Amino acid sequence: MLNLVLFGPPGAGKGTQSAKLVDTFNLVHLSTGDIFRYNIKHETELGKLAKSYIDKGELVPDEVTINMLKDELNKYPNAKGFIFDGFPRTVPQAQALDTLLAEKKTHICLMLSLDVPEDELTRRLLERGKVSGRSDDTDESIIRNRIRVYNEQTAVAAEFYDKQNKYKKIMGVGAIEDIFKRLADEVNKFLPASL
Ligand code: C5P
Ligand code: MG
Repeated sequence: MLNLVLFGPPGAGKGTQSAKLVDTFNLVHLSTGDIFRYNIKHETELGKLAKSYIDKGELVPDEVTINMLKDELNKYPNAKGFIFDGFPRTVPQAQALDTLLAEKKTHICLMLSLDVPEDELTRRLLERGKVSGRSDDTDESIIRNRIRVYNEQTAVAAEFYDKQNKYKKIMGVGAIEDIFKRLADEVNKFLPASL
């Protein structure tokens, strides 16, 4: 299986690039943020709980997010591979993902981390907020909190993969197609080994 983590701060382009990677490499896209938003829209219990964190730009507790991801993984028993977008966001989530995949006799192949300067992230998120309808994209103080939470709680998860020699930093600024090429080149380098 080809299992990728697409990593990076909010506004780095994870969703945009995941959609392209999924098409090119025939993977299942698992975006925890999208799953939370689906649950919020449908007013499920999970959605109500998640909303109370998301609206402040905080992280939903690990246990909740990990259980949700586990359920989601089980929906795709025939997947050729997954792209994890927005997960893991903490070291315990990274550890849990390793365990879940090991139970399925597979593992993370590569973590691709999109590198984008902070002022560019804020600019992109405010721009997205005009059209996305996401309340966490419209308020600059919430955006700043999301970036702070990323720096304090999420960035360390990259080290978890770096120690396993699976971490690749990718320049996330420029044209969408150029960034995609950088990502796809890394996946292609890796591909023969995953078959
Ligand atoms: O990944 P995305 O930016 O779409 O996530 C939106 C929000 O969902 C995050 O700001 C956070 O509040 C919540 N989230 C989380 N834990 C994750 C993924 C998303 O708490 N692993
Ligand atoms: Mg996203």
